[in-house]
Amino acid sequence: MTLRSWVQTFAGGTFSTSMAKLNARHPWSHNDYFHSWILANLPEPCTVALDVGCGRGGLAAALSPHVDRVIGNDVDETMRLEASRRCAGLPNVTITGGPWVDGNEDLDLVTMVAVLHHLDVADALAHVCRRLRSAGRFLAVGLAPPTTARDYAWDVASIVTNPVIGYVTHPWPSKEGAPTHLSVPVRDPTLPFDQLRRLLDQLMPGAILQHRLGFRHTIEWTKP
Ligand SMILES: C[S@@+](CC[C@H](N)C(=O)[O-])C[C@H]1O[C@@H](n2cnc3c(N)ncnc32)[C@H](O)[C@@H]1O
Repeated sequence: MTLRSWVQTFAGGTFSTSMAKLNARHPWSHNDYFHSWILANLPEPCTVALDVGCGRGGLAAALSPHVDRVIGNDVDETMRLEASRRCAGLPNVTITGGPWVDGNEDLDLVTMVAVLHHLDVADALAHVCRRLRSAGRFLAVGLAPPTTARDYAWDVASIVTNPVIGYVTHPWPSKEGAPTHLSVPVRDPTLPFDQLRRLLDQLMPGAILQHRLGFRHTIEWTKP
């Protein structure tokens, strides 16, 4: 049993239910939370950016003032419609649906937030390498199942800090409850952190992989 499922059943589920209520009163998006990290780590210059798995287009919109041209790509039509609506007033943002791996244009930035575990990871990393220009950057926020003591320690830290971050980012109790989940099929991550580390060592030598709060990790790599 993983720590996350143990917490859900602890004390007959009372603890988990109370935490869920608390988190619904002070909701925060574990994905959007990392937009500021991405914006703080943009390559220079940053002319063309591709956000793979753009979902509702939140990151594409956030990148828009900082990048000449932003391409948001998503395989799901509903997500593309929502992203197009969200970015309608942003002329430098294009939302696309074809396979992102097919493009030939050199990219300054590729981002993926909670997307890599939906893809064949090794294949996706190889395509990112190919599509980036030299000195272009890959910035990703990911999820991995906990398998080591270190992973579990980060899970504990994420569980404890979850309501604290909620209070800080959303101090007044929300009338709407937790943000609605994406309507796309959700896939659980299967590649553990340490295996991802080994893949990155092979395919993106020098990539910085770090555990983060919010049950996430980040990958930062600048193409040589
Ligand atoms: C968990 S959502 C994350 C969405 C968004 N990045 C965010 O932070 O809210 C994963 C997204 O990846 C998209 N996706 C899955 N496989 C994809 C693929 N092969 N190419 C492009 N997008 C894909 C899904 O449709 C979904 O919108």
